[in-house]
Amino acid sequence: MDSIIVTGNGPLKGQIPIAGAKNACLTLMPATLLSEEPLTLTNAPRLSDIKTMTELLQSLGAEVTSMQDGQVQAMSSHNLSTTRAEYDIVRKMRASNLVLGPLLAREHHAEVSLPGGCAIGARPMDLHITALEAMGAEIELKDGYLHAKAPGGLKGAVHELRFASVGATENVVMAATLAKGTTVLKNAAREPEIVDLVHCLRKMGAQIEGEGTSTITIQGVDRLSGATHPVVTDRIELGTYMLAPAICGGEVELLGGRIDLVGAFCEKLDAAGISVEETDSGLKVARKNGRVRAVDVVTEPFPGFPTDLQAQMMALMCTAEGTSVLEERIFENRFMHAPELMRMGAEIEVHGGTATVTGVEKLKGAPVMATDLRASVSLILAGLAAEGETIVNRVYHLDRGYERVEEKLRNIGARIERVNAE
Ligand code: UD1
Repeated sequence: MDSIIVTGNGPLKGQIPIAGAKNACLTLMPATLLSEEPLTLTNAPRLSDIKTMTELLQSLGAEVTSMQDGQVQAMSSHNLSTTRAEYDIVRKMRASNLVLGPLLAREHHAEVSLPGGCAIGARPMDLHITALEAMGAEIELKDGYLHAKAPGGLKGAVHELRFASVGATENVVMAATLAKGTTVLKNAAREPEIVDLVHCLRKMGAQIEGEGTSTITIQGVDRLSGATHPVVTDRIELGTYMLAPAICGGEVELLGGRIDLVGAFCEKLDAAGISVEETDSGLKVARKNGRVRAVDVVTEPFPGFPTDLQAQMMALMCTAEGTSVLEERIFENRFMHAPELMRMGAEIEVHGGTATVTGVEKLKGAPVMATDLRASVSLILAGLAAEGETIVNRVYHLDRGYERVEEKLRNIGARIERVNAE
């Protein structure tokens, strides 16, 4: 199993190109199941999660061809061979559940394995199920699979989500594109990945209004056509690399970065004393003098501070001046990086969903264990700022969501290498 070795090396300088968003691509890919015509995605990120989604779509009979070194995914769901999403693939990635809405809408039935336990919390599917049931689906859990059917097809409905779930919003929006009549989804999630999904579905002929707001209205149509669509910039990869110069000092330009994707995050960087500037090609982040100031963070659905940047922000707060309180409100068990950061000398106290971090002058390199995707990159960021060598083990998590991380960081002057620890 690979490990990554990072050695603290002072200020960083240069440019990092930001890839297309993993989480957008993982909902855009299942959208192919809605149409018999080809759907082509450009600006796709090169990640193992994308390979898992490819495998899942292929297992359903879709054709998926990866081109231009993985940056173009050409898909066709002309013929589907099954509507059963097997546990062996689904268990690898929760986003596999995003085939449920499209399959149900097009084929009127689907059997999708429940994803099973996840390191960052229970992550149930009740919101997806209740919403699809409101649209006329009958769903029962048998042998670990959701057996869903909608005899005669899904019907438009007015439904309010109890919580603005990203995945439930995506499943409902996709399902509603082919339902009979109008669906009004209230308390919908407003994440940029959902806006991107709607833009793509609209190109395919879907009639949707209200993306980016809490109420999305979908007028069902008889069929959707093909389309070509560029995947939106990955705001989490963007935020992660914005933290590299913040934590190590220096100045880095993030190519393709957009402030509207990371507004709440930029406000916190500003309060911490980090400068963020828009350039012709993206965003430039600089930390020139002095220590970062401690800031408090509460994770919230978009446009609030993203839970997917909480671990990385904690790494920054570990060496900030003062005490910061990080409150995790989206997932119940998302501080597994805290004990690992403490192995590097961080002072952190966790009580339930709240972590209190008292900044120290300097972190010290140590062997640490990556526990999930965002936790692993937070340990790399911490390692960049630490004295000596940090060995991050179990980095397969990292490859799920960050393409060419060593190359991107090396290009801005970081000392980072991957070793095979077998
Ligand atoms: C998506 C993102 C993930 C991000 C999360 C929150 C993808 C592929 N993943 O995950 O990176 O961290 O949004 O921004 O886009 N919940 C329920 N019942 C449900 C569904 C969700 O209780 O039916 C709860 C979850 O347990 C969690 C919270 O709602 O506590 C947020 O989940 P949700 O917004 O659905 O996240 P995902 O779509 O799984």
